[in-house]
Amino acid sequence: MRFASFVVAVVAILSPLTLAQATNYSDMPPVLLGASWYPEQWPESQWDTDLSRMEAAHIHVVRVGEFAWSTMEPTEGQYNFDWLEHAIDLAAKHHICVVLGTPTAGPPAWLTEKYLETLRVDENGMRDEHGNRQQFSFADAKYRELAHDIAERMAERFGHNPNVVGWQLDNEYANPSFDPEAKAQFHAWLKKKYRTIDNLNYQWATAYWSQTYNDFDQIPVREDNENPALLLDWKRFVSDTWKSYSENQISAIRPHADPRQFITTNTMGWFDGFDEYTVHSVLDIAAWDDYIDSDHYDYIDNGARHDLTRGFKQKNFWVMETEPAFVDWRSTNTPLLKGQVRDMAWQAIGHGADTVEYWQWRANRNGQEQYHGVLVGIDGNPAPVYSEVQQVGAEFDKTGAALEGTSPHSEVAVIQSYDSRWAIEFQQHSAKFDPVKELLAFYKPLREQSQAVDIVSPDARLDRYKVVVAPALNMLPQAMADHLIAYVKQGGHLVLGPRTGLKDEYSALNPQRQPGPLVNLLGGSVTQFYALDYDVPVSGAEGSGTANIWAETLEATNPETKVLMRYGASNGWLDGQPAVLEREVGEGTITYVGAWLDPELMNKLTATWLERAGVKPIVANVPDGVEVCERTGDGKTVLILINHNTTPAQVTLPGEMTDLLHGGSAASVDLEKYGVAVLEK
Ligand code: GAL
Repeated sequence: MRFASFVVAVVAILSPLTLAQATNYSDMPPVLLGASWYPEQWPESQWDTDLSRMEAAHIHVVRVGEFAWSTMEPTEGQYNFDWLEHAIDLAAKHHICVVLGTPTAGPPAWLTEKYLETLRVDENGMRDEHGNRQQFSFADAKYRELAHDIAERMAERFGHNPNVVGWQLDNEYANPSFDPEAKAQFHAWLKKKYRTIDNLNYQWATAYWSQTYNDFDQIPVREDNENPALLLDWKRFVSDTWKSYSENQISAIRPHADPRQFITTNTMGWFDGFDEYTVHSVLDIAAWDDYIDSDHYDYIDNGARHDLTRGFKQKNFWVMETEPAFVDWRSTNTPLLKGQVRDMAWQAIGHGADTVEYWQWRANRNGQEQYHGVLVGIDGNPAPVYSEVQQVGAEFDKTGAALEGTSPHSEVAVIQSYDSRWAIEFQQHSAKFDPVKELLAFYKPLREQSQAVDIVSPDARLDRYKVVVAPALNMLPQAMADHLIAYVKQGGHLVLGPRTGLKDEYSALNPQRQPGPLVNLLGGSVTQFYALDYDVPVSGAEGSGTANIWAETLEATNPETKVLMRYGASNGWLDGQPAVLEREVGEGTITYVGAWLDPELMNKLTATWLERAGVKPIVANVPDGVEVCERTGDGKTVLILINHNTTPAQVTLPGEMTDLLHGGSAASVDLEKYGVAVLEK
């Protein structure tokens, strides 16, 4: 191998494990506090006051520009970037670096008026009118040309600006378009994939309901109520189209940008409108917008979404937006409780974020989001939450040196597959079977007991994990099964959840029944699945409890396969049937859990899986509701403890540690309500 290609190969192998420090600029702090700032909405005379207040809050990064197309290009071909340059320069004077957003989520009125074809069309054929935002078609060639142009002009001007540390493409990619061009592209995509219409007819089993096609152009484009094979391919096409949408802008920016400037986009947690792994294959780092999913902060769910985002590139990530106490888009926009904003900020760092940015800095004078939480009000003076964020900023500054070069490391992985989530959502069978909630039912006890979990795509490298759990890997083609078989054979402990292995990559039922190509390794299979709306007793050597929502009857066909749990008396079909199977394979094991089990029983089973694999908690005997996060690297170990409870808690440390927030060292820490401790070994 020539040296150059050897280097490329080594970098390719190492890169999933290397860190994305907050920026690649050595003169910027390693952990950044930031905010979304919209200078285009304010007279320039007020910028300095805003930036001074940011500096006083220890804000070191602003995201700018992502909705400013009409200011950057007020009429077609007339560009105005001077204001942006002034804003970037002034920010630099306040030691604040900039992430530039390309403004393509907000096309200006002149654009959509002149190029009507750039407007998005919904599934029912209705073309969007100009207004609001995100009203563009992601597939339209003209839109891409215009997006390329504005991104390129920005990059020509700012690609070597030393105060611009990165780029955010667009903003929260979301809806696909069903315009004629997108449909034609879908047909071409299908043709490339299947080559002949006969092949597609075979894989999709289109004899069903007379769906047989004579030509690719006849294929309808729909988001639901269709053949699941079609729906699946549409989602994959949408994923590829968002990927090429990104590539279009990357090709405009990269040639003009300093290699230190990263390119990313901001994602939305569990959102599954497309496959984030596909889109992230062309991005440098992952970044997400952390808004709590329900009216109250659920730290387990929020932590899982950080872990999910870290898994997109398998390295540290950014929180590009988060809420300064409340948002404006829920039915009741209750605030986080005092102290929880800081709690959330530290949870992000604990799970591998290198930056936390608030949306937004200052209340808009007008527009749809006047009620949203902010750090300073319309008058530019601090909102009550400002001082809590300022404290976070001071703490990031204090701990940055210790956190530099560190990231979370896990011995446990949970597999998350968009194909499988979609397959279940297309045919839920039980309205209560939400694949995310089912993933969380496995994740929660794993996280609480091991204190570190990676959430990864099915094709991630697995040999570094002691335990791998695939909660509902509904779509399990042969190649994926081979990957899992190799993991078990090299000594890994694999746990499969209900609904695993039902389908192949075309969404057709696997001929072996569940878990499809893993039937032989397991030495058993699923004889029947049942949706439930009542509790069913389940018991075995590991304990007893109940199943609900979903239960599968299993059958062991290999003498080496053990029945670990059985259903008790319920609907007749389940009575006395196996619910959990397990087989040892050399040093490894494969376990199949055929039901959605209650949390207590999941706790017990999880304890046996972790113990067998030798996975220990980072800090033992931690009180409930206290979260332990560890970041290691560069010879350093940093513990972040967060008390999510409303009452104080005490934690005994594994040994004497340095208290990075308060100074001194201690072997135990007292945490007040929502208290945080950052400790170095
Ligand atoms: C995000 C969006 C921001 C802002 C924010 C309000 O989804 O990216 O532009 O609208 O929500 O919570």
